[in-house]
Amino acid sequence: MTTQSALSQANRIHIATPLPGPKAAAYIARDEAVTSKALGRVYPLVPHSGQGCWVTDVDGNTFLDLFAGIAVCATGHCHPAVVEAVEQQARRLIHVGGPDVYSPGYMELCEQLVGMAPTGTYTGGWEVFLTNSGTESVEGALKLARYFTGRQRVIAFRGGFHGRTAGSLSLTASKAVQRRGFGPLLAGVEHLTFPNRDDCPAGMDETIWGRQQAERQFHTIFETTTPPEEVAAVIAEPIQGEGGYIVPPDGFFQAIRDLCDQHGILFVADEVQTGFGRTGKWFAMEHWGVQPDIICMAKGISSGVPVGGFMARKSVATWPESAHGTTWGGTPIGCAAARANIRVIEEEGLMENAMEQGDWLMARFRELAQETPRLVSVRGMGLMIGLETADKATAKAWMQGCFEQGVLTLTAGAKSMRLAPPLILNRAEAGIAYQVMREVLLGME
Ligand SMILES: Cc1ncc(COP(=O)(O)O)c(C=O)c1O
Repeated sequence: MTTQSALSQANRIHIATPLPGPKAAAYIARDEAVTSKALGRVYPLVPHSGQGCWVTDVDGNTFLDLFAGIAVCATGHCHPAVVEAVEQQARRLIHVGGPDVYSPGYMELCEQLVGMAPTGTYTGGWEVFLTNSGTESVEGALKLARYFTGRQRVIAFRGGFHGRTAGSLSLTASKAVQRRGFGPLLAGVEHLTFPNRDDCPAGMDETIWGRQQAERQFHTIFETTTPPEEVAAVIAEPIQGEGGYIVPPDGFFQAIRDLCDQHGILFVADEVQTGFGRTGKWFAMEHWGVQPDIICMAKGISSGVPVGGFMARKSVATWPESAHGTTWGGTPIGCAAARANIRVIEEEGLMENAMEQGDWLMARFRELAQETPRLVSVRGMGLMIGLETADKATAKAWMQGCFEQGVLTLTAGAKSMRLAPPLILNRAEAGIAYQVMREVLLGME
C-alpha cells in the first residue's frame, strides 16, 4: 500500500484560484463568443501546459489527468522522446504530399504497425493506410470492406462509437444526440446488443454465455432481416469506449469471428480507443486471441499529434491504385511522433505498467463499491477503467467534484465514470487519484 508521505511527495495537485480562475474565465468568455455550440465542454478547464500525468491551467492550477485527452496521451503529456521527434521533424520537413511520394517516416511507421498486428492462423501479411483521425480510419475500413466483398450491409453494436462523419456516424450508436437531425445515414447498417461480461448469469460458463450472445443475435437477423451473403462487415470495439467501458464476455468475439468466416464477412476491430497498450496489449482484441481482417487505429498511436490509420490483411486489401486517398494522412510530423511514441511504450514497459496500475486501481475501487451504493460496479482492462455509478447525476457530480479537487476525469455511457490516464501513471499517482476520487464520492453522501 502506498504510504501517505509518498503520496504527499508525489502530489502536485495545486488549486490556488476558484475554478475557473480569472484568466480562465476571461478565455472562456471570449471562446463562447466565437466557437461552435456543438462542442461539448465538460468543465471549465483552460489548459496551458502538460507534463507526464499533470496538466497546468492558465491560472497556474495543476491537475492530475486521468483522461489523457480522451485516451490519447499514452506516453503522457509532452514525453521528451515525442517532443524531440516532433521538433526534429518540424525543422527538416513538414509536408511533402504524403501519399503521392515515398516517405521514409511513413514507411517506418507502417513497418512498426505491421510488426504489431495480432497473430493467428492468417500469416499472409498486412498493409497500412494512414489517416488523421479515428473517424477517417473507420471510413476507410468501411470502404475497403464494401469494395472487397462487393456487399453493402454492415453490422455494428448499440453503445458503440466509431466517429461522427457520415459513414462512421451510421455505425455509431452511443448517444442519440450524436445522430439526431443528421439522417438519413448509410442504409444497411444493423445494430445488435453488445453484451457486458458482468451480466453473465451466476454459475454459467462465461465463454458459453458469450458465444450464445453472439450466435443467437446473428442467427436471428440472418434468418429475418439481414441475409448474411449481403453483409460486408461486422465492426466492433473490443471494449466499448464512449458506451461506458463495457468489457464483453469471453467467447463473444470468437463466435463472431467464426460466423464471419462461415459467411465471407469481414471482421473489423475498431481499436481507436483500446489500441496502443491501453489494455495491456498493443491491440485489445489480442485478449481474446481473435485476429480481425481490418484494424482501425488513432488516439494513443502518437500521444497527441493527429495520426490514425487502418491496417488490413493483404488478402482483403485488393482495391486498386487511387481507390482511396488523403492530403495529410501520415504527415511527417505525425509519423515521427507516432514512431517515437510506440518505441516509448515498448521500451518503458508501459503495457505492463497499464496492467499493474489498472489492476491496483480496480481493486481499490471495488473496495470503495463496498463502502457506498453510489458506486455500483467496476470494470475494465489495464488503464481503461469504467466506474458505473447509481445514476447519471452521481456520475456528473463525481466528475465535477474531482475537477474541483484537481483530478481530471470524464463520464461515459449512461452513468459511468471512465479513467483513461497516461500509461506512465505510477503507483503514487494512482494512489493520489484514488484518494481524491474516494473522498469526493463519499463526500457526496
Ligand atoms: C472507438 C472509437 N472509434 C472512433 C472514434 C473517432 O475518433 P476521432 O474522434 O479521432 O475521429 C473514437 C473517438 O472517440 C473512438 O473512441
